[in-house]
Amino acid sequence: MPAIAVIGLQWGDEGKGKIVDYLSKDVDLAVRFQGGANAGHTVVVNGKVYKFHHLPVAALRGKHVCLAAGMVIDPEKLLEEIEMLASENIFPRITIDGKCHIVFDIYKVLDEVEEESGKGIGTTRRGIGSAYMCKAGRVGIRFYDLLNPSFARNRLEKMLHTISAIIERYDSKREKPELKDIESWIYKVSSKLKDMVGDVTGIVNDALEQGKTILLEGAQGTLLDIDHGTYPYVTSSNTTAGAACSYIGISPKWIKEIVGVAKAYSTRVGKGPFPTEMDEETASIIRDKGKEYGTTTGRPRRIGWFDAVSVRYSARINGITCMALTKVDCLSGIDPVKLCIAYEVNGTIIKDFIPRDDILKECRPVYEELDGWEEFDPSMKSVILRNGYGSLPKNLRIYLERIEELVGSSIKYISIGPERFETIVK
Ligand code: IMP
Repeated sequence: MPAIAVIGLQWGDEGKGKIVDYLSKDVDLAVRFQGGANAGHTVVVNGKVYKFHHLPVAALRGKHVCLAAGMVIDPEKLLEEIEMLASENIFPRITIDGKCHIVFDIYKVLDEVEEESGKGIGTTRRGIGSAYMCKAGRVGIRFYDLLNPSFARNRLEKMLHTISAIIERYDSKREKPELKDIESWIYKVSSKLKDMVGDVTGIVNDALEQGKTILLEGAQGTLLDIDHGTYPYVTSSNTTAGAACSYIGISPKWIKEIVGVAKAYSTRVGKGPFPTEMDEETASIIRDKGKEYGTTTGRPRRIGWFDAVSVRYSARINGITCMALTKVDCLSGIDPVKLCIAYEVNGTIIKDFIPRDDILKECRPVYEELDGWEEFDPSMKSVILRNGYGSLPKNLRIYLERIEELVGSSIKYISIGPERFETIVK
């Protein structure tokens, strides 16, 4: 199996961390290909919680992990992750593609002033938008520049000028960083990270040609994709399986499995349309059960019913070969459960997702109600883990099979709890 991509089908936080951890036991190499410290992939092993923001989760198993060219990396946050693993005596081989862009503090300041002015879209304030803006504007600084900082001085000046001018418009009193301070920070970061800078594109292509198995770890979700998501309430990168190829620099021919991850319900953080958002009474039950607070920001997540219209859209864009459904245990005890099968807009029923802000905010969900299933107690969980799919509660199986029908894809992995071992394969 040359390359397996794991992609979020909703608005991020689908539980991809748990699924990539499960799949990473059998791979030779793992690659993150977009986003940066806005992501928070969580893995729970024997009650211990590990949170990853940049590194592929396979680092936990000591695998060789790569950060591909499409990523924007916050060097200090990355160093914190490396130290977190070192404190557990885990020292994975890490390669950062020299083409990855560096996230500067001034990028985070721009997110902050934008959000504080009330004009932001509810970003994670990790400087992601500015990093991709500078990259597209050809004034970004890359990890290759850490190897020869003086060469990039001209570009650094232009970057500082561009970002400072925007910050000035929001908050003219805010202190501006000096070029010399940023330069000395670059030298400091360079001394710690330059040995990890390399050619991920070459490493991944070599590994594929040698028949190795590679895990491509997506971040955020398809509905946050800059082109196909709910623009402008999206992140600044492409989050889909197709994007993995261009962001890493590999041919699409290598991806043989595409696992689309969705939660048994929906969540979203930040602003933007969310047709199946629930009333707060039910939402707060699920939020507490599912610990639905941002891994990166701690913000309470908005909660909604499973939206088969948007997930079917995401499934098609990615061409998923199967689904992983997470957190089915967090819906247990809720009766009835609802599935959104269509939207109603001004008296018209629509069955296809339209990524238009003006239409989505008018969409009213059309629900199908199904009977709920009982709470999972520890003995029931151990029976399920031993005996597999057939021992899931009958109403849960009906729920899963209806989702398969509506989305048009089989559910191969079902996560019934946060622990590494609490996953069943159908
Ligand atoms: P940014 O990526 O920080 O610029 O934020 C843009 C939008 O994407 C905001 O609505 C964020 O809440 C959302 N977002 C970014 N990363 C994640 C994630 O990993 N999970 C869920 N939402 C995210």
